[in-house]
Amino acid sequence: MTDKKAPPTTTDAGIPVASDEHSLTVGRDGPIVLHDHYLIEQMANFNRERIPERQPHAKGSGAFGHFETTADVSKYTKAKLFQPGVKTDVAMRFSTVAGERGSPDTWRDPRGFSVKFYTEEGNFDMVGNNTPIFFVRDPIKFQNFIRSQKRRADNGLRDHDMQWDFWTLSPESAHQVTYLMGDRGIPKTWREMNGYSSHTYMLVNAEGEKFWVKFHFHTDQGDGNAHYTQEEADRMAGQDGDVHRRDLFDNIASGNAPSWTLKWQIMPFEDAKTYRINPFDLTKVWPHADYPLIEVGKLVLDKNPVDFHTQIEQLAFEPNNMVPGVGLSPDKMLLARGFSYADAHRARLGVNYKEIPVNKPQCPVFSYTKDGAGRTENVTDPVYAPNSYGGPSAQPPQGDEAGLWYADGDMMREAYTLREDDDDWSQAGALVREVMDDAERDRFVDNVAGHLADGVSEKVLVRAFEYWRNVDEEIGNRIEKAVRDMIGGTSTAPGMASAESIARSAG
Ligand code: HEM
Repeated sequence: MTDKKAPPTTTDAGIPVASDEHSLTVGRDGPIVLHDHYLIEQMANFNRERIPERQPHAKGSGAFGHFETTADVSKYTKAKLFQPGVKTDVAMRFSTVAGERGSPDTWRDPRGFSVKFYTEEGNFDMVGNNTPIFFVRDPIKFQNFIRSQKRRADNGLRDHDMQWDFWTLSPESAHQVTYLMGDRGIPKTWREMNGYSSHTYMLVNAEGEKFWVKFHFHTDQGDGNAHYTQEEADRMAGQDGDVHRRDLFDNIASGNAPSWTLKWQIMPFEDAKTYRINPFDLTKVWPHADYPLIEVGKLVLDKNPVDFHTQIEQLAFEPNNMVPGVGLSPDKMLLARGFSYADAHRARLGVNYKEIPVNKPQCPVFSYTKDGAGRTENVTDPVYAPNSYGGPSAQPPQGDEAGLWYADGDMMREAYTLREDDDDWSQAGALVREVMDDAERDRFVDNVAGHLADGVSEKVLVRAFEYWRNVDEEIGNRIEKAVRDMIGGTSTAPGMASAESIARSAG
């Protein structure tokens, strides 16, 4: 905090306050009185300070800066923010997924990587993670997935049995769980990690041509793999649970602004129909050999929040915030996210959350929504459309718009149609065999085994060993051996064994 000349304290109505230290009483030692309005205002405000935390991704922090398009990618998109040389203000938030608002930054978890671009055509939100894939591919499983990672109903504890139960019954999770149990599961700092859209999005150029795209934000601070080992992370959780929040704030405050280079993988529109992997399956990556990365621009974070609550807690990202030239894809998860986030914000922040300054676009807004709790912007007549009094009127898009892909058929509840290389294990296996080096593979086996040896029931354990053998035979065998060595071959009661009881039974 910096020293500054103190202004006089006032009430929220701007009226000067008589004392910061003494309530109004009848006589020096007598009771306080009800017309000490300032005292009552302070108590009432205090009682209402906390707003609900985000359901997933509750713990995090963020900063502000800009994005500059440094390459000419106009042949792929007409979006103004992606035209050469255009500079756009951004807000960013990093987070863990399962932990609550006060949980340690170093718990093993994917990390959120959300960027809000305040473009001249409205807000564009890229709400990604530090891994290029996800645990499930159908949104109907998302809620259950998150519940399995949070806390049990009875004792309010997180529970490895429930996590592995869900994962091993959902083989599509294998690729993401492999990432999670590797080094990226506990990044050293947010500054040193990469960010990904994970989903496939659509781009549309000025001629109406469409492309599929995946976003990759590569950190300029190192190789994207800086991490804590499990042991370091456990120690850090006790020493400084806010280590990632502190690192970001301190670096920006001292002028060490972190940056990321945005790269795209572009897939020609027609390729999607015949590519050997379903390009909209969120559990898969597109190999770079098939779709190489092209450079797009630079993201810099150089400004800290001054009020964490108004600028970070109330910051609201939504994947449905798309600008002309960028669109959703037929990824079922992405389409569901297009609904879910705005609904979460209405519940958490109120229906007029887009009027909170950090969520406001930096371009004029001419919408027909009106009223509701917390409304601050004046609405002017006419309040309906169509009208003959000069109210805003919608402009049909110029050329082809980013819309949905072809879609027809009977209504059904089915998995995606399988393609040639659509299986749940191959990409996870390649990650273990081809991307990890020996040292990371050893850490990976230790991480998985340590996790499984902590309270996972025998029936889930057996499935877990099979799961890992499907990823890679040798890794699966190594994991089983390591777990059996740790728990002494005993089976544990479903979901109830603690590390301590396992250690006792092993001893
Ligand atoms: C936060 C829903 C999948 C990244 C949230 C929130 C909800 C949600 C309700 C809390 C929003 C808030 O209160 O501000 C869903 C649903 C999903 C899904 C329904 C799937 C159907 C994903 C995926 C990613 C992701 C695949 C990454 C690629 C994030 C991030 C945040 C978040 C980064 C935190 C945003 C922030 O910093 O405020 N999600 N999510 N989510 N989600 Fe998802």
